Amino acid sequence: MTSTHAFWLAGRQATGEDTFDVTSPWDGRLVGKVSVPTDAQVEEAVAAAHAVLDEFAATPAHVRAAALDHVGKRLAERAEEIAQLITAENGKPVKWARGEVGRAVSVFRLAAEEARRFNGGEAQRLDTDPGGQGRLAVTRRFPKGVVLGIAPFNFPLNLCAHKVAPAIAAGAPIILKPAPATPLSALLLGELLAETDLPAGSWSVLTVPNDRMPALVQDERLPVISFTGSDKVGYAIEASVPHKHCTLELGGNAAAVVLADWSSDEDLDWAANRIATFSNYQAGQSCISVQRVIADASVHDRLLPRIVAAVEAQNTGDPSDPATDVGPLVSEDAARRVESWVDEAVNAGAKLLTGGKRDGASYAPTVLTDVPAGVALATEEVFGPVLTVQKVNGEAEAFAAVNDSKFGLQAGVFTHDLQTAFRAHRALEVGGVIIGDAPSYRADQMPYGGVKQSGVGREGVRSAMEDYTYERVLVLTGLAL
Ligand code: SIN
Repeated sequence: MTSTHAFWLAGRQATGEDTFDVTSPWDGRLVGKVSVPTDAQVEEAVAAAHAVLDEFAATPAHVRAAALDHVGKRLAERAEEIAQLITAENGKPVKWARGEVGRAVSVFRLAAEEARRFNGGEAQRLDTDPGGQGRLAVTRRFPKGVVLGIAPFNFPLNLCAHKVAPAIAAGAPIILKPAPATPLSALLLGELLAETDLPAGSWSVLTVPNDRMPALVQDERLPVISFTGSDKVGYAIEASVPHKHCTLELGGNAAAVVLADWSSDEDLDWAANRIATFSNYQAGQSCISVQRVIADASVHDRLLPRIVAAVEAQNTGDPSDPATDVGPLVSEDAARRVESWVDEAVNAGAKLLTGGKRDGASYAPTVLTDVPAGVALATEEVFGPVLTVQKVNGEAEAFAAVNDSKFGLQAGVFTHDLQTAFRAHRALEVGGVIIGDAPSYRADQMPYGGVKQSGVGREGVRSAMEDYTYERVLVLTGLAL
């Protein structure tokens, strides 16, 4: 019999009255039963977080850093078990799940390092004008309040780590709400947090169903909301609490640009392999997976067959097999939506070069060309293993094609030319430009986030700490400067 997973209420385990099931997207087996907090238990967690606000903000850096180091160390010790758990609840191939655990270890290490150096205070002389004679400003940062972190299903561990670790590093209490499809990794993270000396109330992991979230979002004791997920939900949250600080990490339809100077056989093989890998990793369920290839006409005809061959070489199947590259999507509904978007594009005149088949929650790695403007595949985030390829003439047309999107998260530009790299950095309306590689590169210390409808604010450990805190100036007077 499957035991019920407790949630974490102000640092201790608790169970409520109801439960829900977590099932494997691959074979539908029951992976775990999860307890749901009652309204009274949610209230208890929020009250505890609010009560500990001042104490936690004043906790010495070495205490917060030691707790973060501990969690990082324990994640590393239990890495294989956690990777298997991610694969079971999410369907992510275990090779990618192992990578995700490694990244979460880094996030906690980076947060421990930042906790030690963050907020040393910045001094500014004020005697630049007669009125400021003998005066000095010291600026330090203080938490804006309790953070409500709402995490998505696609990185069940690491995107929880990106909410929790910076909050602890900055001394801001956090209530984490994991995705209903994949709560088990977040609950396991709770086990490791519970091994630390962090004050009760400074963290909770609450498995609140989505339909009960509006009350938490509205709660005035939670002035900071850090949300990762769809643009529809993200903007609905922001619109419902215009006076709160919202960080929104939303969708993207990332482009990989291949320019004329990226033209040797070796260049094109590398680009094709990277594009094929990163349009299909996690079955395309990453906000920065490659959705659009924009190829200069001079290399397009040599690149396209290489991309199709590299996509067809992806191993599909059981995500627990270490050789599998592409597993199922998170649910059959998700795969059906992808199928309907591809069918819509093909019916509107797009050419299907490979893939285009669904089997339950799995969707075959797919490549299309000639996708007409206006279909969902051309305008929305597919969040599936689907790639469109477009031919353009020259750099200016390529960059305009990247920007011809309501999203702006990351772009990759395959070029050897440093001047082109800097022009791309200036021209592309995205949060990150990756040169010589696919757009799907993220190092966890980098500022990460988008423009346009890809969201507002930045994650990445230090950026999130800045987001969770505000500057407060202290003016000292009568000093002999
Ligand atoms: C995301 O899908 O937004 C996260 C991508 C990543 O962390 O690699």
